Amino acid sequence: MATSHATRSRVRGQRGALAELGNWLAELLPPPRKVAIVTDRNVAPFCLKAAESALKKAGFATHALLIPPGEASKSLKILGNVWDRVLTAGAERGSVVVALGGGVVGDLAGLAAATLLRGLPFVQVPTSLVGQVDSAIGGKNGVNRPTGKNLVGTFHPPALVVIDPDLLATLPEREYRSGLAEVIKYGFLKAPELLDQLRAIGDYEALRSRPEVVDAIVTRCALIKAEIVERDLTESGERLLLNFGHTTGHAIEAADSFQSLLHGEAVGVGMIAAAFLGVDLGASDATLPAEVSELLERYGLPVATRFAPEELLPFVGRDKKKKAGKSRWIVVQRAGSACVVEDPPSESVLRAMQAVHQREEPSDSSPLRGERV
Ligand SMILES: NC(=O)c1ccc[n+]([C@@H]2O[C@H](COP(=O)([O-])OP(=O)(O)OC[C@H]3O[C@@H](n4cnc5c(N)ncnc54)[C@H](O)[C@@H]3O)[C@@H](O)[C@H]2O)c1
Ligand SMILES: [Zn+2]
Repeated sequence: MATSHATRSRVRGQRGALAELGNWLAELLPPPRKVAIVTDRNVAPFCLKAAESALKKAGFATHALLIPPGEASKSLKILGNVWDRVLTAGAERGSVVVALGGGVVGDLAGLAAATLLRGLPFVQVPTSLVGQVDSAIGGKNGVNRPTGKNLVGTFHPPALVVIDPDLLATLPEREYRSGLAEVIKYGFLKAPELLDQLRAIGDYEALRSRPEVVDAIVTRCALIKAEIVERDLTESGERLLLNFGHTTGHAIEAADSFQSLLHGEAVGVGMIAAAFLGVDLGASDATLPAEVSELLERYGLPVATRFAPEELLPFVGRDKKKKAGKSRWIVVQRAGSACVVEDPPSESVLRAMQAVHQREEPSDSSPLRGERV
């Protein structure tokens, strides 16, 4: 795909950016100036008023829709409610859908925007760390089905992504740590300097007390994602790399029935498994699994799973990245360099999953310590 700056130019970020939402949107889109803001009930008390006032000042009429927080809202039922309420509120061609929230709101509102009146302009205002460094950028949306996560959706790139790191101030600690797993992922894939920065800062508390550092980290990650998406919107090549840790991570989430673990918590363990796989295949530096675990542990993320390989393997077979019956894994050779491996030998996969399996009574000699998931 030809390189353009389309995705990057749509991403605008700075502290306090929410106040500019209306002005930036007015610059971009012709009338009608009608906006449906989709948000969730956790997020609304913190920033819905500010979003509405930024839009109203720029001449937009706004209508807010509050969905229940949580992954369960990525359903056809809630999507149907959003469709009906946006239409009842008088949406017409050119009306805008704004997602104000984390990845759940973004994925649901994005699919609503893509399908309402054959496609309405869409704006992302991510309020979670996962949203700001990952899910708001790249145009993927979707809902879940009983057969799996994100199985129904489209690519509908947002006209504008407004990243305001000030919005992270109210994000609960566990959600924040989970988002850091994706930051660590970018570090191993493309930006070793991010890993050095995280090591130098030390830990979660120190990082959270330094908003200017967080701003820089969020901007760096958002840029990496935007650049990759520009080169490969439909995930036929380079974008696959963003799935580092996600083959095992998704299997852990599925084995857990999406109940007790956050996405980043599962993906962190998945990155360690992928690092072991890389070493097993002779592709990765021998020190890689320890490097990945050390950073995750430092930021309070789990480094092992209670699920045994035989519980995870059935889900690897159903992974969305599978093509022509082959499973695909992302292997990092060393921080900053990664590739796709198709159908690695099953014994290697088994050993990688064994390496992150923490049994009931871990022995003192276990190489992996930390919180069990
Ligand atoms: N489309 C993509 O490319 C893409 C990429 C990664 C993840 N995702 C999807 O994103 C979802 C995960 O995103 P998430 O981690 O943001 O989950 P989320 O949207 O559920 O947000 C996490 C929790 O934090 C709350 N929250 C969000 N921002 C807040 C704030 N500023 N203050 C207080 N509370 C706040 C939410 O209400 C929720 O309870 C998953 O469904 C995943 O599939 C999509
Ligand atoms: Zn992810």
